Amino acid sequence: MDTTHTGADSSTEERDQRVNDVVARILARSGTALASTTGQDTSQDAGALEREARAGTRRVDTGASDREDISEVEYRQVRLEKVVLVGLRTTQSEEEAENSLRELAALAETAGSRVLDGIIQRRMKPDPATYLGSGKARELAEIVRSVEADTVIVDEELAPSQRRGLEDVVDAKVVDRTALILDIFAQHAKSREGKAQVELAQLEYLLPRLRGWGESMSRQAGGRVAGGAGIGSRGPGETKIELDRRRIRTRMAKLRADIARMEPARRTQRNSRRRGAVPSVVIAGYTNAGKSTLLNRLTDAGVLVQDALFATLDPTVRRARAADGREYTLTDTVGFVRNLPTQLVEAFRSTLEEVGQADVIVHVVDAAHPDPVSQVQAVRSVIDTIDGASDIPELIALNKADLASPEQIALLRTVFPNAVPLSAHTGWGVDALRGALEDMLPRPRVAIDAVLPYSAGSLVHRIHEEGDVEREEYVEAGTRIVAHVDEALAAVIEREAVGPAVGEAAVNGA
Ligand code: GTP
Repeated sequence: MDTTHTGADSSTEERDQRVNDVVARILARSGTALASTTGQDTSQDAGALEREARAGTRRVDTGASDREDISEVEYRQVRLEKVVLVGLRTTQSEEEAENSLRELAALAETAGSRVLDGIIQRRMKPDPATYLGSGKARELAEIVRSVEADTVIVDEELAPSQRRGLEDVVDAKVVDRTALILDIFAQHAKSREGKAQVELAQLEYLLPRLRGWGESMSRQAGGRVAGGAGIGSRGPGETKIELDRRRIRTRMAKLRADIARMEPARRTQRNSRRRGAVPSVVIAGYTNAGKSTLLNRLTDAGVLVQDALFATLDPTVRRARAADGREYTLTDTVGFVRNLPTQLVEAFRSTLEEVGQADVIVHVVDAAHPDPVSQVQAVRSVIDTIDGASDIPELIALNKADLASPEQIALLRTVFPNAVPLSAHTGWGVDALRGALEDMLPRPRVAIDAVLPYSAGSLVHRIHEEGDVEREEYVEAGTRIVAHVDEALAAVIEREAVGPAVGEAAVNGA
């Protein structure tokens, strides 16, 4: 199997170990910090925090110019290197908070950064000005300085003003979860359409945030160029924002038009698969659950498998053959994630649309994950928003059974009674899954009993591929075939048959 790893200089194990160590450190710190800070920070009003934040700002020239550059390329690439994570623990249990942090760490590492440290604060609501309360924000600034991080990643989508507020306190670039996911998607999109859709999503994210960037840029310009934040320093910033905004809107319009042009081609491809009445199976699941590995197992497709989130962005369609000879297609889809940025749900309609057209959904679950049930819920909540998808039969594949404990598998089987445990990695249970999946494929409904001339060999072949053949024998006039097929194929058989007529000797009383 073709297994590729991201992270140029470290193996998967090293990376996992590093993430584990960092998560343990963050949790240990938040354990002690929780008692000391609970209830303290909520008393501060936004204005006080703004003032405090400004007072705490220490910009160095190189940092400021670097940030100005970053603002120019923000929507293309989030520059992530040495990062510190930030999360809030609101009503979650300790376990949920840990899972959330672990996922953020995995996302950050997938984006190519190195997670050095982090901080979790327990408070009911994010601070409107700086996301973290002021004390915690200063603590964060201290951590950022001590580990020499250049980026802070926050586990939620931030309001533009919150990001600026926090950035002013920590004096490092602040990136939110949405920007991080958008960046990962941008790195992985391969098709022209995928790339256009990600860019559109990034611009949608950026547009309402321009003002924030512009203001901090004009403050910097005032400081460095005009020798003070005078009246004049605001003008150029605003003009630039307007220009940027117009440029972005033009670009978005072009991308939308491009995507609209690509859509008919995609639909034609899909319809041609539908017209051939080849049943289609969609493999869906949380990111990193093992969808690509399973597709490889089922089809020897050689799809990229990475121990990184979202290795697959564009749908991959492969043909497979059922034990009874019928063909069906298998489509790998984009990985789901909790709180998928709304910009992306729209952007990835192409992949998600495949889900709505499927005959069966194989929902791959990482059974070794600490909280697979929440992941199943997250996936289902997105699937339910896709037209027609909620009625499609779903087969739960409890993957990574080689890693999960037998107790965990047993528990999951009580929650999901028809689930099939397997390991796409070792191959254990894959045949059972294949069997269960093939049983769920729609059966062709028209019973035929026909003799086809020996010259119609390709039609006989097609009946084997698409239909359910019960009997085949060679008679004088040709091949007698008793089978179930779909209506379109039945019509072709009727035209070609030399006798008896289609349906005359319907078998099995269908
Ligand atoms: P996205 O592209 O993020 O949606 O991921 P995916 O669901 O396609 O997962 P992928 O197949 O890329 O697998 C993710 C990681 O899990 C890889 O490192 C796989 O080798 C590993 N993996 C997949 N299935 C199994 C399994 O049954 N057991 C074990 N131990 N590892 C597995």
